[in-house]
Formats: sequence, C-alpha cells, structure tokens
Amino acid sequence: MFFSFAADGAVASDPAKIVGANACAECHKQEAEAWKGTRHFKTFSEMPRKAPAKQISEKMGLRRIKSESVCLNCHFTMQQKNNRQEVVSGISCESCHGAAQDWIKVHSGFSGKTAKTETKAEEDVRWKLAESKGMIRRHSLYQLATNCYSCHVVPKEGLVNKGGHKPGSSFDLVSWSQGEVRHNTWYSQGKENVAADAARKRMLYLVGLGVELETGLRAIGKATARKTYAFEMAKRVDRARKQLAAAAKAAPDVPEIAEMVEFAHSAGLKLKNDRSLTVAADGVSKLLASITEKYDGSTMAGLDGLIPKSDKYKGTARKAGAVD
Ligand code: HEC
Ligand code: HEC
Ligand code: HEC
Ligand code: HEC
Repeated sequence: MFFSFAADGAVASDPAKIVGANACAECHKQEAEAWKGTRHFKTFSEMPRKAPAKQISEKMGLRRIKSESVCLNCHFTMQQKNNRQEVVSGISCESCHGAAQDWIKVHSGFSGKTAKTETKAEEDVRWKLAESKGMIRRHSLYQLATNCYSCHVVPKEGLVNKGGHKPGSSFDLVSWSQGEVRHNTWYSQGKENVAADAARKRMLYLVGLGVELETGLRAIGKATARKTYAFEMAKRVDRARKQLAAAAKAAPDVPEIAEMVEFAHSAGLKLKNDRSLTVAADGVSKLLASITEKYDGSTMAGLDGLIPKSDKYKGTARKAGAVD
C-alpha cells in the first residue's frame, strides 16, 4: 500500500506533492468541467458560510474553518507554496487520484514517444511507474473506494460527538459515483460521459460494501465513548454485514463475500475491542484485495437485483461536450 491513513481517517495527501486541479485541467478539460459541477468543488466556497458549519466550529472551539486542519482533511485540498500551505480548492482530482507531483509527467508522457509509437510493453512500464509514484487509476477499485469511504464514513469521533457533525453519508459506491461525480470523458475522446457497465457496477457495489465494512470496523475499534459516534458506526457495520450477507446469497460462486461476513461477525461491535476489530478489518481487507484481483464482475449477475438503479444516483452526470 502506498498511501496511509491520517489519524482522522482521511487518506493523507502531502501538500508538498499537490500540483492543483488547474494543472490537470490543461489536458483534462472535460473532466475538470464535470468536477466543477460537484459538491466536491462547491464545498470550497459554500460550506464555510453555512449555519451548520458555524455551529460545528463553535462547538469545536475553532476560529477559521479554512485554517483548521480538522476540517481541511476532508473538505479541502492544500498545496505547499513558498514554504506555506495554502487551501487551493475543495475536494479535487488529487484527493481521489493521489498527489501528482511525482507522477504527472510520467503518466502522460507515452514513455518519451507518442501514443502511436509507444509499444505495449513500454506502456505497461509507464503505468506501473506512475502507480508506484502514487497515482490511483481507474482499475484500482479498492484504493478508489477506500478514499471515498475514508471521508464519507466521517471516522472522527470528536467531530461527531462534540462538534455535532453528521456521522457519515448514506453512501453506496454505485449511486454516489454514477451521478454528478462521473467524468468518464477522456477515453471516449469527449464524445460521451461513459456510465459504468453492468460488470463494473457489480464490482463497485461489492467493493464499496466491503470497504464500508472495513472502515466501520476500524472506526469502532478506535471509538472511546458510548455516544452517537460509536452507535452510528455500529449501525453502519451491521447494515453493511446484512447487505453483504444478501450479496453472498445472490452470488454464491464468490465465496469471499460470505468470508467477509464471517470476519465481520468475529469481533463484537463494542468499545475497548480494538484488537479483535482490527483483526476482523484486516481480514476483510485481504479478501477485498483478492476479490479485485480475481473477479471483474462478469460472473456476478446475481447481484444485479441488489444494485441501486439510476433514479437513486446522487446528482446528475455532466453530458460530454466541448469546453471553451
Ligand atoms: C500533459 C497532459 C496531461 C496532464 C497535465 C494531466 N494528464 Fe492525466 N492523462 C493524460 C494522458 C495523455 C492520459 C492517457 C494516457 C494513455 O492513454 O495511455 C491521461 C490519463 C489520465 C487518467 C486515466 C488513467 C487510467 O486509469 O487509465 C487519470 C486518472 C488522469 N490522467 C489524471 C490526471 C490528473 C489527476 C492530473 C493532474 C494532477 C492529470 N491527469 C494531468 C494527459 C495529462
Ligand atoms: C472525516 C471527514 C470530514 C471531516 C474531518 C469534516 N467533514 Fe464535514 N462533511 C464530511 C462529509 C463526508 C460530508 C457530507 C455528508 C453527507 O453526505 O451529507 C460533510 C458535510 C458537512 C457539512 C454539510 C454540508 C453542506 O454544505 O450542507 C458541513 C456544514 C460540514 N461538513 C462542516 C465541517 C466542518 C466545519 C468541519 C471541521 C470542523 C468538517 N466538516 C470536517 C466529511 C468531513
Ligand atoms: C471523488 C473522487 C474523484 C475526483 C475528485 C476526481 N476523480 Fe477522476 N476518477 C475517479 C474515479 C472513481 C474514476 C473511475 C470511474 C469509473 O471507472 O467508473 C475516475 C476516472 C478518471 C479518468 C478516466 C476517465 C475515462 O474516460 O475513463 C480521468 C482522466 C480522471 N478521472 C481525471 C480526473 C481529473 C483531471 C480530476 C479533477 C478535475 C478528477 N479525475 C477528479 C475519482 C475522482
Ligand atoms: C477528501 C474527502 C472526500 C473524498 C476522498 C470523497 N468525498 Fe465525496 N464528499 C466529501 C464531502 C466533504 C462532501 C460534502 C461537501 C459539501 O456538501 O459541502 C462530499 C460530497 C459528495 C457527493 C454529493 C453528495 C450530496 O449530498 O449531494 C457525492 C455524490 C460524493 N461526495 C461522492 C464521492 C465518491 C463517489 C467518492 C470516491 C470516488 C468521494 N465522494 C470521495 C468528501 C470526500
């Protein structure tokens, strides 16, 4: 694993390695346009002005939301500029694809050749190199999902119990990735914002639930008080276990699903149980790694009845089209 969790759950991004969304937009105009239509983009200017934001910061004893690290990790992107860390945007390209300074040139450079003259072998080396330098690509579903959940579970006890922050989103990876967040316009050359196909949706659904379970188990392990946070995390894990149990029935040829459920039942959802909860979460994590390696969703048609349909998608996907 080349990324690590910060103390509060959000995946750590080194501000010294952030290049900022404008650098991506030089080539990725359509994807940047889609991003500008999302809550991820708008939170930068809108969140700090909202009444609930003021209430949370008051309860937390904070003065300026945009300079308090407790909010920065999940709502903003920080970049190092001349020895100073500046808040440059909301949740941005690099919050999901990884801080880019070390991989931006590599990923787009066609190994010093062109798209036409680069060999397949050279292309493979290029992508491997980009990933070893921290790039998170489309196929790395487990990492992409871990990133989403590290923010959307809101695994931060004080923020919830003391600040009154919402204890997580009612998140599922299909409906939350296929609406406003969708920006699959690059490989269609800007002709279409391509929706996930049936097989991809099954993988999104399954891996999403697994990561939800893993994140929730770890969160309960770190919880210290019998209050809202611990209760909500336990509810979340219980719900994910039930949904996964249904998925295990619907896709019996994927034995790893039932094994995840077993792990999830192996540790009591209670305080002072960090050690067993961590063992359970690690077990789920291993199974997820092997699921993403072994399967591509094509054999999991049994899951289709469980997957949210397009009327549940969060927001509307931007249509592909020219950008001035
Ligand atoms: C100089 C132009 C350029 C810039 C700047 C650029 N990209 Fe790219 N990007 C490309 C090209 C070219 C490809 C496709 C390469 C290929 O087809 O093999 C690509 C592909 C990608 C992909 C798809 C990878 C996959 O899974 O196949 C992602 C994600 C991505 N870029 C993210 C970013 C982000 C994030 C930034 C800013 C930090 C960025 N790019 C900046 C040119 C660029
Ligand atoms: C661990 C990640 C995380 C941290 C840290 C965090 N938030 Fe949030 N916040 C979220 C997520 C995820 C949502 C969206 C919840 C939902 O689905 O409704 C959110 C939503 C909000 C909302 C409601 C958004 C709106 O526009 O209506 C406010 C207000 C807010 N956060 C304020 C704060 C403040 C202030 C801080 C710092 C004291 C903070 N948050 C820290 C993850 C976080
Ligand atoms: C909330 C997380 C998130 C943010 C923010 C984000 N991406 Fe992505 N990106 C993803 C995910 C997830 C995928 C894979 C989606 C899929 O395959 O269904 C993806 C796919 C891509 C692709 C491949 C598109 C294609 O045609 O298949 C490119 C290129 C890309 N992102 C670039 C960017 C750029 C540039 C930005 C910022 C302007 C950005 N992304 C912001 C999560 C994100
Ligand atoms: C760095 C933290 C972070 C990451 C990573 C992240 N999100 Fe978010 N997301 C947020 C916050 C915070 C909000 C709420 C912003 C607000 O409303 O002010 C949000 C809002 C959203 C919304 C809008 C929800 C609504 O109520 O309309 C969607 C959809 C969403 N995220 C999907 C995703 C998906 C899918 C991924 C992963 C591919 C992801 N997010 C990754 C922090 C994050």
